[in-house]
Formats: sequence, C-alpha cells, structure tokens
Amino acid sequence: MNGEEFARTVVARVAEFCSSYEARLPAYSYVPLETDAQRIRVMQSRLFNEVRSAEIFGAWLKTTPELEVKMALAEAIGEEMTHARLLSERIKDRGGDPFTYQPVPGQMAMFNAFEGMPTTVERIAAFPLAGEGVAEFMIERALAAPSVPEWIKVPYQAICRDEEEHAHFPEEVIARYAISADVQERVRRAVAMSLTLRRQYFEDLDAWVLQDAVW
Ligand SMILES: [Fe+2]
Ligand SMILES: [Fe+2]
Repeated sequence: MNGEEFARTVVARVAEFCSSYEARLPAYSYVPLETDAQRIRVMQSRLFNEVRSAEIFGAWLKTTPELEVKMALAEAIGEEMTHARLLSERIKDRGGDPFTYQPVPGQMAMFNAFEGMPTTVERIAAFPLAGEGVAEFMIERALAAPSVPEWIKVPYQAICRDEEEHAHFPEEVIARYAISADVQERVRRAVAMSLTLRRQYFEDLDAWVLQDAVW
C-alpha cells in the first residue's frame, strides 16, 4: 500500500472509533453532563491535557529530525499553552481551582505512552492523529449540543479553530513517512494503543465525574 492509501486507512480507523461513541457520548464531551460541578471536573481534566500535550511536544523536539515536523511541534507547544490559559481562566471564573486536578489512571497511562513512542511517525500517529482526532470529534459534538452551556462553548470555539487549521498535517506526515510494510505495521499498532488507552481514559473520567470514583 502506498503512503496516501495507508494514511487513509488509519484516519478511517479513528473515525470508526469516534462513531462507536455516537449513541452515548462520554463525560469528556460535556454533552451528557447535568451540573456545573461535573462540567468543572471535565474542564480540569481537559486543562491537564492541554498542559501535558505541550510538555510532550516539547519532550519530542530534540529527537525529531524532520524539520517540518519539528516546526509544527514547536508551534503546537505555544498553541496548547494558549488553550491551557483559556480553560484555566474559565475554571477560575466559575469558582473552580484549575491546578489541583489529579489525572485519572487511564489519562496518566495514555500520555506516558505517547511520551515513550520512539519514532516520529509513530508519535504523530498515536497523538496528533488518533488522540487529537478523537478530541476534535468530541469538541464538535459539544459545540453542536443544546445541553452544553455557552460558558463551555466559548473557549472551545477558539480551540476548535486552532485545531482545524492543522487538522490534515498528521495524515500528511503518515502519508510521507509510512511507506514500508514494517513502518505501516508500527503505525497501526501505535494508533490501536492510543485508542485503547483513550477508551480507558474516557471510562475513568466518567467514573470520577459521574460516580465520584477514587483510586
Ligand atoms: Fe489544545
Ligand atoms: Fe492540539
């Protein structure tokens, strides 16, 4: 399979994962939530993701020799911290504490796994493609849902505009670099790993937000 064809198959895999949530969206999407206390919990968890994303992109910089990917990572670091500022201010405005949040287990595992991916193409497949692809899907659902209040939608409208600008970059990177059977196999596994851990993160976040789970 050539790189373009292969990239389309992994994009389709992520879309299939997203559609598995269509009938019952997770707390992460804000859509099923009923109280502001629940919404603040989800926003705290997602603020953690913005900061952790910036840290991971930064951790990868030195070991990313492909200059166009290095430049994209460098830009993304600033962008993620801008998202973090938007969410942290929103949490403070609503009387919450932005920085006392403790990540739920699946979330810790997911980001630690991203950080440990060895090659550029596996990293981009696991996180910007699969991870951020699912996040973007959930943001679109939140923005379209009447059950999600305006104070949540406002920062996500800005976040959504940023993510849309470079939405195709991960697919292009995979099309360019995943051109052998061996690399394609590793990319497929990186995507599967990312989605498995994402599902666990969503389960754990549901349990904390909706049932006060403790670990
Ligand atoms: Fe972000
Ligand atoms: Fe992002």
